Amino acid sequence: MAKTKTAYFCQQCGYESAKWLGRCPSCGEWNTFVEELVSKEPVANSANFFSQEKAAAQRVDQIAFEQQPRLNIENEEVNRLLGGGLVLGSLVLIGGEPGIGKSTLSLQLALHAPSLKTLYVSGEESAQQIKMRADRLKGDGSNCYILSETNLENIFTQAQQLKPQFMVVDSIQTLFTNRAESSAGSVSQIRECAAQLLKFAKQTGIPVFIIGHITKDGSIAGPKVLEHIVDVVLQFEGDGNHAYRLLRSIKNRFGSTAEIGIFEMQNSGLREVSNPSEILITQHDEALSGIAVAAMLDGIRPFLIETQALVSTAAYGTPQRSTTGFDVRRMNMLLAVLEKRAGFKLAVKDVFLNMAGGLKVVDPAVDLAVAVAILSSNFDLAVPSRYAFAAELGLSGEIRPVARIEQRIAEAEKLGFEKFFLSKYHKGIPKTKHIALIPTGKIDELTREVFRS
Ligand code: TYD
Ligand code: MG
Repeated sequence: MAKTKTAYFCQQCGYESAKWLGRCPSCGEWNTFVEELVSKEPVANSANFFSQEKAAAQRVDQIAFEQQPRLNIENEEVNRLLGGGLVLGSLVLIGGEPGIGKSTLSLQLALHAPSLKTLYVSGEESAQQIKMRADRLKGDGSNCYILSETNLENIFTQAQQLKPQFMVVDSIQTLFTNRAESSAGSVSQIRECAAQLLKFAKQTGIPVFIIGHITKDGSIAGPKVLEHIVDVVLQFEGDGNHAYRLLRSIKNRFGSTAEIGIFEMQNSGLREVSNPSEILITQHDEALSGIAVAAMLDGIRPFLIETQALVSTAAYGTPQRSTTGFDVRRMNMLLAVLEKRAGFKLAVKDVFLNMAGGLKVVDPAVDLAVAVAILSSNFDLAVPSRYAFAAELGLSGEIRPVARIEQRIAEAEKLGFEKFFLSKYHKGIPKTKHIALIPTGKIDELTREVFRS
């Protein structure tokens, strides 16, 4: 009888050690080592997945290249994120926190592609439960197959019989393979299952979506190894209190990672949002103070977002500063700039800042809109609603240029904005027809311009 062998694995990053360790030397986490059984059979060597022959070095210009065939999966946002369709034989990981909508998204992908034969495998829910969800999502289910199974070998048998055009496995943490002996969800199971799924995808050409839960700190739960194995990693994010969800590409072997997809969670599933500005800007009947619109970018996607500020006299000794969706230290810095360089007395004021839609904004180009929103609330003077802003604010109050300004201007112009405030240090800005560009160099010049009337 073969001897069973055990090893200790870090549950955070998958680091393997022969003995227990308190602190993982790879990721630095404490107390993450768990003893697991390791497989008796030698694990398939990943280098041999693609060909059985011995590989020889080739000159780049001599390698025969065919365009990777791509499958249109009939969901525009996901198609675009993948770089123009799903590459045959690819392995795509969709990660996200529990309850964010991964199962909904993936079932919807399988269900709403009536021209493709699809297989949705769930290790979490029974076929009846999935049927209930499918009814909610209102798809034509005539070409979508459901399998409730957790054993990987059985899944492969079924998939080989059915030969779907793509397959979804929800979720990797519930799967187990006979080749590894530890329990489902452990590092060695996840690693082995992912390697087998990769082998399956490459050999059969069937693309596979795997769903993975991520932990609160944003890493795919359990091993980071998963991210190395798969071809594409899509991260599903959003604030549970808002209906908007972002699908972000954080790794893509077949396309750019600058793309994001935007969805809205509705009663009947996720709706693709092709024009995000429409939901991030409210149409007010009258102009309100404390609101300014920023032309921001997420990845390479431009959209307009409302920044809202409330400034009031501090009731207690220490003024309160609080933000949602924006770095509070960055806001404090902007307040200091406004105080020192433009002479506004904000030190004794409470300042609250909010980004519309529960979005987290890191683009420095929203600085200007934040500063204007704060001043607008402070003076109780409304900014005309057809003004948009995009610039970074420097420590000496100078208005600095930001990346991809043409795209930001184009987005504001498309939405019918009238004035666009930007840095005067941009070079070669093209002429615009319907929107007036107002280049400025200093924050005090800008405030005079905005609050002139
Ligand atoms: P789910 O896809 O199960 O999340 P995950 O697989 O990431 O854990 O769905 C999460 C939430 O979505 C759930 O709380 C209910 C909500 N939801 C809707 O609002 N509308 C719908 O049509 C569906 C199916 C779910
Ligand atoms: Mg789920």
